[in-house]
Amino acid sequence: MAGKRGPNAGLLDRLNDRSATIAVVGLGYVGLPLACALAEAGHRVIGIDAAAEKVQGVNAGRSHIDDVTNAQLQRLIADKRLSATQDYQAATAADAAIIAVPTPIDEYRVPDLSAVRAASASLSQVMPKGSLVVLESTTYPGTTEEVIVPAFRDRGYMPGVDVFIGYSPERIDPGNQTWNIRNTPKVVCGLTKSCLEVTIALYSTIVEKLVPVSNIRTAEITKLFENIFRGVNIALVNEFQVICDAFDIDVWEVIQACSTKPYGFTPFYPGPGLGGHCVPVDPFYLAWKARQLDVNTEFIELSGRINAAMPSYVVRKVASLLNGNHKSLNGARVGLLGVAYKKNSSDVRESPAIKVIELLLEEGAGVSYHDPHVKSLTVNGQVFRSVPNLRDFLGAQDCAVVVADHDSIDWTLVLQFAPMIVDTRNVLGRLNPSSARSPQRIERSID
Ligand SMILES: NC(=O)c1ccc[n+]([C@@H]2O[C@H](COP(=O)([O-])OP(=O)(O)OC[C@H]3O[C@@H](n4cnc5c(N)ncnc54)[C@H](O)[C@@H]3O)[C@@H](O)[C@H]2O)c1
Repeated sequence: MAGKRGPNAGLLDRLNDRSATIAVVGLGYVGLPLACALAEAGHRVIGIDAAAEKVQGVNAGRSHIDDVTNAQLQRLIADKRLSATQDYQAATAADAAIIAVPTPIDEYRVPDLSAVRAASASLSQVMPKGSLVVLESTTYPGTTEEVIVPAFRDRGYMPGVDVFIGYSPERIDPGNQTWNIRNTPKVVCGLTKSCLEVTIALYSTIVEKLVPVSNIRTAEITKLFENIFRGVNIALVNEFQVICDAFDIDVWEVIQACSTKPYGFTPFYPGPGLGGHCVPVDPFYLAWKARQLDVNTEFIELSGRINAAMPSYVVRKVASLLNGNHKSLNGARVGLLGVAYKKNSSDVRESPAIKVIELLLEEGAGVSYHDPHVKSLTVNGQVFRSVPNLRDFLGAQDCAVVVADHDSIDWTLVLQFAPMIVDTRNVLGRLNPSSARSPQRIERSID
């Protein structure tokens, strides 16, 4: 005799045989690749986004995300596997919804959960009984239970019975050619056993290895710890760079030598400061929540301060290099090479280039940039446009500053034609080790 089917049985069937309809809320760096992966797996996917231009772009087969090609979008749209809308009513037909909206901080570094609140309030009004709602946005422990669950309870839905609720932090690394949605293990959790079962069924269709954890707050804090781990280690190596510079030691050579230790050492690299939507922002989510519990987060605060000071360290290097060549920063022409927050990306959110430009302008420098991935950049209301021709760009500078070491920049040309270079990424040291006494401080002068 067949066993009793649980409240999630129908949903499990639809997820397992890939006949489910999934709403993905927020079609950004996380949501759009996720929506495509779910559609490729056979589900019907409805993308919901507040931004009209993104919805129109997706429906027209124009991708705004580097990792999703126009061709892939066009195929999924033509096959009716994917569509986009601004209207949450579309989710009345959904078996599951994944929330991937932004979780920024405000000017006082306080978590801004307004998008998560808005998305969960809207979904709670439209998701049918027996459906699954998973939060993917990075956030502090407690958010799912404090924001998502009450929204559905207010509608009279009992979690685990009328609606299944899960949390699964996103680990996508935009631009990473090795690790993608499918082969990156994914932490999952459900509010109840039934919730976990359907959350696992959903993600099993697109991810090879799932890592269930015992409760939602553990899943939420896991993501924060991953990013705090990076932020703290980058701060350590940034501080170490300053120390090495004072000793006239090449920090990159030190890291390379340390990395030969087969155990107990993980290399992190110095740079012009943190960028992106995650590592500079997420630690403040935990710090804010921990303050409510009277818990200190000293490593987090300290690493935040060290990383935030890096753009001014870079500008000091530019000033010192110019000074060594009888030039002042005031009036100098300084050109940034790469303004995205990381190599091979067009993402300028929280990019250290923005702070570097601000500081250079304050000191009276004339600033321009070359970045094949970023056509324009707005800093304090001033619009900068990438100078397309690298040779012309280099010829117009007194000093070049490497901020993002994109593969698409011809670094041999940079080495040849930049009059002075501050290389925050060691790209020129890697290219031609003998050219750099200390690659981070190439501070090379060819005049
Ligand atoms: N970008 C990454 O590499 C990355 C990696 C892991 C985790 N995360 C986390 O994932 C979440 C999303 O980040 P992202 O980088 O994709 O952000 P994003 O800004 O690229 O995309 C978010 C999208 O949500 C839309 N949106 C905002 N409010 C909405 C609402 N109420 N309803 C519907 N749509 C709404 C925006 O228009 C935007 O298109 C954040 O919590 C972030 O911390 C990001």
